[in-house]
Amino acid sequence: MVKELKIGLTFDDVLIEPRRSRVGSRKDIDASTRFSRHISLQIPIVSANMSTVTEAEMAIAMAREGGIGVIHRFMPIRDEVEQVSRVKRSENLIIEQPTTVRPEESLSEAQAIMSSRGITSLLVVSEEGHLLGILTHRDILFVEEDSRAVSELMTPGPELITVNPGVTMEEAKRLFREHKVEKFPIVDNSGRLVGLITIADILKRSRYPLATKDEKGRLRVAASVGVRGDYLERATALVEAEADALVVDVAHGHSDLAIEAAEEIRKRLGGIELVVGNVGTVAAVRELMDLDVDAIKVGIGPGSICITRRVTGSGVPQLSAVMDCSQEARKNAVPIIADGGIRNSGDITKALAAGASNVMLGSLLAGTEESPGMIVIRGGLRHKVCWGSASLWAQWGARASTGEDPEEIAEVVPEGVEAVVPYKGLLTEVLHHLIGGLRSGISYAGAKNIEDLQANTCFIQITAAGLNESHTHDVEVVR
Ligand code: XMP
Repeated sequence: MVKELKIGLTFDDVLIEPRRSRVGSRKDIDASTRFSRHISLQIPIVSANMSTVTEAEMAIAMAREGGIGVIHRFMPIRDEVEQVSRVKRSENLIIEQPTTVRPEESLSEAQAIMSSRGITSLLVVSEEGHLLGILTHRDILFVEEDSRAVSELMTPGPELITVNPGVTMEEAKRLFREHKVEKFPIVDNSGRLVGLITIADILKRSRYPLATKDEKGRLRVAASVGVRGDYLERATALVEAEADALVVDVAHGHSDLAIEAAEEIRKRLGGIELVVGNVGTVAAVRELMDLDVDAIKVGIGPGSICITRRVTGSGVPQLSAVMDCSQEARKNAVPIIADGGIRNSGDITKALAAGASNVMLGSLLAGTEESPGMIVIRGGLRHKVCWGSASLWAQWGARASTGEDPEEIAEVVPEGVEAVVPYKGLLTEVLHHLIGGLRSGISYAGAKNIEDLQANTCFIQITAAGLNESHTHDVEVVR
């Protein structure tokens, strides 16, 4: 017999009651928050661990903007590790293994290396690794015989300004100012090349003041693992690659499999920042908190590409799920990630007001330049593909890459769809609109930061007529 009939609400069922604002400009609103217990963010946005949303390019762009990306797991372990490493390497002040060429190699060989790596200069080193010179695009601009040796064309070692391995950011900036060169090779006491420092990398640092960085100044990135097959091996490899957090990613996080996986990871990998999901109830949050997790991902069936609720009849309307779970998680100061169903900046404000520390976005980001999804043309316009992680295609790929039995693959019952979303250009533009809207939302609620918003929001439940009134009406929208 059914025990209880509860009422659940979601974003479109409510509005935030406007309150007296004391904020002069949207810029004065502080949107900083936490991803998990030990990772802070300057913006409350996380890109979803979906194969058409987050790989290295998206994770780099997200971290530069002050959020964080979670690399998906639908690929072999070594590929996911490489995605994490690419993010961790992306903003190194020092390039530890610069591309080199030997002096006896020909100009054509040097040019082939430059074009394959997309770079405009090469450091010339001896067999023992001693720095002999640098070959830049200026050295070879009007050289016609491409069989000439690099040693004849390079700027030789004695003319180069080099630095010691211990160089600091401030020293590097001063040297760039004084000498007006773009690159400084780093050499040790014996003249061996040990790295390279470039003005481009220093500029990148000042261009992204909100960037989410680790204690060594590298961009932060999270990576997801499943709960079956090779998940422990994957988790170990990702931690070795210095992923900042692991996200145990499973459709039903309140299950033996998910709980055992989280326990095993804690046992094996100790203090790694551990996020587990997805769940939608207070009971699940309580059990996960007992495992000492660092954040909990909430969302059963709200996602744009989800059909879980139709296939299984199970789920919790997202606003209620976030409110109930956040209230419980607050007791242990565990952040809640509101995952799925966000369609605009208003929904972000509502999710945060309901208690979430940040929101995870899938389809809203799948159309950006940085997402890994393929571009397709529909109706003459550019779109990008957006696959549900539990869609047939993604499930086949995932199971095949973890070496699962093909018989089992044939038994997959999809809980997601394969879809497309309009192409939207660069992530930074999309985030500009979402964060701008969120800042306004916080100010309408009479708050000046997320904590304030959570403490003071009053939701008003609306009717179908109210929802209708909330949309544009009685006009033909032209833009
Ligand atoms: P949005 O609405 O932002 O949601 O696109 C992204 C979130 O949806 C979840 N997700 C799925 N849920 N079947 C599901 O039931 C799926 O195939 C699926 N794929 C993704 C996931 O939590 C993601 O972050």
